[in-house]
Amino acid sequence: MLKRILLDTDPGIDDSLAILLALASHEISLEGISVVHGNCSAAQGTVNALSVLELAGASHIPVYKGCDLPLVQPSLLAPETHGDTGLGYAKLPAPLSPPKVQKGSDFLIEQLMSAPGEFTLVCIGPLTNVALAIRQEPRIVEAVREVFIMGGAIRHEGNTTPLAEFNTFVDPHAAHIVYHSGMPITLTPLDVTYDCVLLKEDVERLLKIDSPITTFIADATRFYMEFHDEYQSIEGCVINDPLTMALTFAPDLCSYQEVYVDVDLSGGVSMGNTFADFYRMTKKPANMKVALSVKARDFIELFLQRMEKLARESNVLSSPQGT
Ligand code: BDR
Ligand code: CA
Repeated sequence: MLKRILLDTDPGIDDSLAILLALASHEISLEGISVVHGNCSAAQGTVNALSVLELAGASHIPVYKGCDLPLVQPSLLAPETHGDTGLGYAKLPAPLSPPKVQKGSDFLIEQLMSAPGEFTLVCIGPLTNVALAIRQEPRIVEAVREVFIMGGAIRHEGNTTPLAEFNTFVDPHAAHIVYHSGMPITLTPLDVTYDCVLLKEDVERLLKIDSPITTFIADATRFYMEFHDEYQSIEGCVINDPLTMALTFAPDLCSYQEVYVDVDLSGGVSMGNTFADFYRMTKKPANMKVALSVKARDFIELFLQRMEKLARESNVLSSPQGT
């Protein structure tokens, strides 16, 4: 049976790739997107989400703008990582369709409460929208079928401070609310995403198909690769968010441990750090399943095959015979 997906995202280069992966995957049905601040402003991210959907011929999927600021912390965007527009060097036409008028968190509540036990929620940005939705309608905790979160760095170093990962650092209070909400969470931290590196030769393989989708991927990831080279001495780029999306239908890509995870809110050097109680010192029950190892090349191969399929299919649809 098709898994029904709601996506909360801050698009963002790897977020956009996660949207494309969702659209290319027959196992899941992407039914709506709420946008949050993070890699760029919520307004810019909303435009990006709409443009990426239109690029892939999926403008029927509704997009809702969510919260533009973290719950407590000042705003922190990431133009050095994702570019001023959030999509690196890619230039997409302005979207034809507008976002829906409802707020992102209200949309999540409405959908989750309308079909208890049905929706899988995938969260690949700061958790502000989701935390607000939980505070506004706590019954969504029971109503959601499962939650996949890209965030945290358990045994891995941070990518925003030495100890904290971006999504968690940007809104640690929201992460705290969601982690302790009782939702059935699977966490995809940097421990696994940093093994998933898209290489230049992978993008060259995609470019063998001449398509606006492969051009978009190449232009967006060229910027992302320059960032990884300059700031982290990594060749290629880490595609965090698509891995989280892939786990909704290919869970065997990772192995997991059920563990109690908390977020540091003390305001010092470890603000936003995520730490796991592997030795059960706190005696607290596990609050999530954490992915701790990944078959990285299998995932990259899955990603490439799905992008090839999407590019070929959209070429057929936009050819004169396909219309
Ligand atoms: C996360 O932060 C953002 O830069 C990415 O989109 C991803 O969701 C990785 O730390
Ligand atoms: Ca993201």
